[in-house]
Amino acid sequence: MDTEAFIKILRTRRSIRRYDNRVPDRATIEQLIEAASWAPSNHNRQGWKFIVFENRNQLHGLAEQIRQQVREMVGHSNRVAASQADELVHYAGAFEEAPIVILAMHKRIPAVSRELLDQAATPLVSGEAISTAMAVQNLCLTAHVMGLGTCVMTAPLLAGEVWIGLPNLPAGFEPTCLVTVGYPTDQTEPPRRKELRHIFEYRWMLMTEQEIFTKLLPLVRETTGAREDQITMASGLMEDLGAESLDLLDLSFLIEEKFGVTLEADEFERQASQRIPGGEYERDGILTEEAVVELRRAIPEVPPDKFRPGMRKIEVPGVLNVAVFVHLIQRKLAETDTEVSYARG
Ligand SMILES: Cc1cc2nc3c(=O)[nH]c(=O)nc-3n(C[C@H](O)[C@H](O)[C@H](O)COP(=O)(O)O)c2cc1C
Repeated sequence: MDTEAFIKILRTRRSIRRYDNRVPDRATIEQLIEAASWAPSNHNRQGWKFIVFENRNQLHGLAEQIRQQVREMVGHSNRVAASQADELVHYAGAFEEAPIVILAMHKRIPAVSRELLDQAATPLVSGEAISTAMAVQNLCLTAHVMGLGTCVMTAPLLAGEVWIGLPNLPAGFEPTCLVTVGYPTDQTEPPRRKELRHIFEYRWMLMTEQEIFTKLLPLVRETTGAREDQITMASGLMEDLGAESLDLLDLSFLIEEKFGVTLEADEFERQASQRIPGGEYERDGILTEEAVVELRRAIPEVPPDKFRPGMRKIEVPGVLNVAVFVHLIQRKLAETDTEVSYARG
């Protein structure tokens, strides 16, 4: 199967809430469970169980109990408006429309792990629940390929006691979600998906020198007018590529836009001055000897003899090369843990 065909399957799976009277047979159900079992799982523990309900009367009875309990719950809550309450009650029992309902359950994690999960700075979802959800997705996709419809439902679990109270449930397992299964009567329009740029971003914190150089190259070309094959890490922006002071400013803006890091105009001056506390960086616009020593240390990318005693402060940008910017960007990205959105990339 080619990628396009596979992605089409992912795109066209819908949550189906209305089914015709046909009941999928047991061989079909077992195919679905087999597909589910190929999902990845935490330590390959496969801490999942699938309880299949195929008795209409039992499903109607369960739905009624659940509606009753959810009605009571929302009745006691002063946060749920009356109009919302009816909808929620209906939603919680809607699984009864399906000929088959599967209760997916995940293994309860040991008390010690639960304690650790709860202590995490942001509460973690148990690996068993995640694994079970992945198995459910396998099941739903396989059903879709077979012409069946499914819907994952968690609203019915609001009435958790009803499910936990069922006889003969496997010990040590908790409900993850319900999955309804049947032959669809309606083809619903796909609900809109968020645009990719709103749901992901590349993290550039760990960009290599080479990756930064590659991204920087077009910006250097744009600001200096040099050809790409002329630009190397060692190229002096002013000396070799003919940039002027204003071009360097432009370059800083472009870097900010592309990499999301801010380069200050006096970046190197500040760095060098910090290392000569109490000492002087410049006198009447001329770098002090201490400053020359510190600049050589602070900017190792530039050959040391370019920082001459008696050099004027405004001459410093004139010796900067591409490598200086690459390393500065790399350091700033690491320091600020910057995330750059894909949209800007
Ligand atoms: C964890 C989870 C819980 C859900 N619970 C319900 C539910 O209780 N009732 C329901 O009708 N749909 C439920 N859904 C289905 C979503 O509404 C549905 O996936 C979403 O609107 C996107 O539509 P699609 O699945 O057709 O792409 C649930 C889906 C997920 C993943």
